[in-house]
Amino acid sequence: MEKIKVVIVDDTEETRNNVKTLLSFEKRIEIIGEAENGEEAIFIVKESRPDVVLMDINMPVMDGISATEEITMSVPETAVIMMSVQGETEYLRKAMSAGARDFLNKPFSSDDLINTILKAYDMESQRKQHSKVATVQENVKSKVISVFSTKGGVGKTTIASNVAVSLARTTKKRVALVDLDLQFGDVAIMLNASVKNTISDIIKEINVLDVDVMEDYLVTHFSGVRVLPAPVKPEYAEYITSSHVERIINTLKENYHYVIVDSSANFHETVLAALDMSDKILFVSTLDLPTIKNVKSGLDVMETLRYSKEKVRIVLNKASEQFGIKYKDFENTLKHKIWAYIPEDSQTVITSANKGFPFVMTRTETKVAKAILNITNQLANEKEEEGAGKDKSSVKKIFGI
Ligand SMILES: Nc1ncnc2c1ncn2[C@@H]1O[C@H](COP(=O)(O)OP(=O)(O)O)[C@@H](O)[C@H]1O
Ligand SMILES: [Mg+2]
Repeated sequence: MEKIKVVIVDDTEETRNNVKTLLSFEKRIEIIGEAENGEEAIFIVKESRPDVVLMDINMPVMDGISATEEITMSVPETAVIMMSVQGETEYLRKAMSAGARDFLNKPFSSDDLINTILKAYDMESQRKQHSKVATVQENVKSKVISVFSTKGGVGKTTIASNVAVSLARTTKKRVALVDLDLQFGDVAIMLNASVKNTISDIIKEINVLDVDVMEDYLVTHFSGVRVLPAPVKPEYAEYITSSHVERIINTLKENYHYVIVDSSANFHETVLAALDMSDKILFVSTLDLPTIKNVKSGLDVMETLRYSKEKVRIVLNKASEQFGIKYKDFENTLKHKIWAYIPEDSQTVITSANKGFPFVMTRTETKVAKAILNITNQLANEKEEEGAGKDKSSVKKIFGI
C-alpha cells in the first residue's frame, strides 16, 4: 500500500518531534521531510511533492501563510493543513483563503492529527479520480448575466432566480445561478433548494477548482438550474475576494451556457468582479425617488468604468405610472432607456417565494411571468452586439490593486 507522504513545518524542534511521535504508530503515514520556516517548506515541497504539509503559522524568515499561498499555487496536488494556536482566527482566515485545506488547533491529539491528514488525503484523491473520469466538455459558449441594483429590495433575487429558471426551461441549455449577495443571499431560500455546500466551501479548494470540483458544490434545482448558494453566515462573506469570484465564474463558464449572478446592492469588489465579467447587466430599478437617485449614482459609476449602454440594461420592476412618475421622465433623468418592464403582482411573487416555486414555472399565465419570459427570450435571442462584453479592470481601477 502506498503511504501518505507528509512534511512537517514548524520553527520549534519540540513541536516537530511531538508531531512525529503522534504519527509514529500510524502505518499509513510516512514523514518524508521537515522544515523550520516557510522558505524551506516551499523548497522541500517542490522537491518532494508530498501529499500533505502540516504548517505552522508564525515562523521566522517566511510565515506559514505566505508559504501556503506559494505551495497551493505551484504544487496544487499537495494539501496544506495549518497548525494554529487557539485564538489565531485572523491568521487562520488568511491561511484558508491562501488555500489551506484544513486546520488543527494546538495542542491536538494523535486521533485528531491522523484523521485530519486522512481526510485531506482522501479529498485530494477523490478529486484526482474525478478529473480522470471527467468527460471532455464540449466547447461551451457562455454568457454571464448579472442582476444588479444600487438599492436593496427592488427585486434582484426575484428576477435573477426566475430568469435563470425560465432560461433553463425555454432554451434547454445549461444554466448556473450564483448568489453573490454574500452577506444576505436568499437565492437558495427563494428556490427552496437544500443547501449542502456554499460558495464559502469552494474557497477552500479555490486553487484546485475546475469544472469537476465545481460540480460537487452546486445544488440542483428541480428546474435543472444549478445553484451556488451564498454563505450560511454573513461573517463568512469577508473570506471571499474578487479573484475568488473571477475563478468561480470562469470555471462555470466552461460548463454552462448561462451564468446568472444575483448580487448585493453595492460595488463591493466581489460584485465588481462579476460585473466586469458580465456580458449583460440587468440593472433593476423601481419608480420611487430614493431608488431613482441611487440608480442614477450607480449608472454614473458604470459610466466611469466605461461599461457600454449595450451592456447595462435597465429593468423597471413593479412598473406603474400611477404613483406620479412617468416612464419618460425616468428615462430622461437616467439618460438610459428602459429595456424591460415587470409589473407588480405581490400575490404571485410573494406566494411563489414563500413556497419556493418560481412563478415562471407555476403561474405562467400571469403578466409578471410573461414579463420574465420576455426578458428571457430577448437574452436568448440576442446576437453579440457591438460594444457588449467584458470589462477587465474595474476592481483594479477602484481599489488600486
Ligand atoms: N414584480 C413584483 N411584484 C410584487 N412584489 C415583488 C416584485 N418583485 C419583487 N417583489 C417583492 O419585493 C421584495 C424584494 O424582492 P427581492 O427579489 O428580494 O429584492 P432584492 O433581491 O433586490 O433585495 C420581495 O418581497 C419580493 O417578493
Ligand atoms: Mg436579493
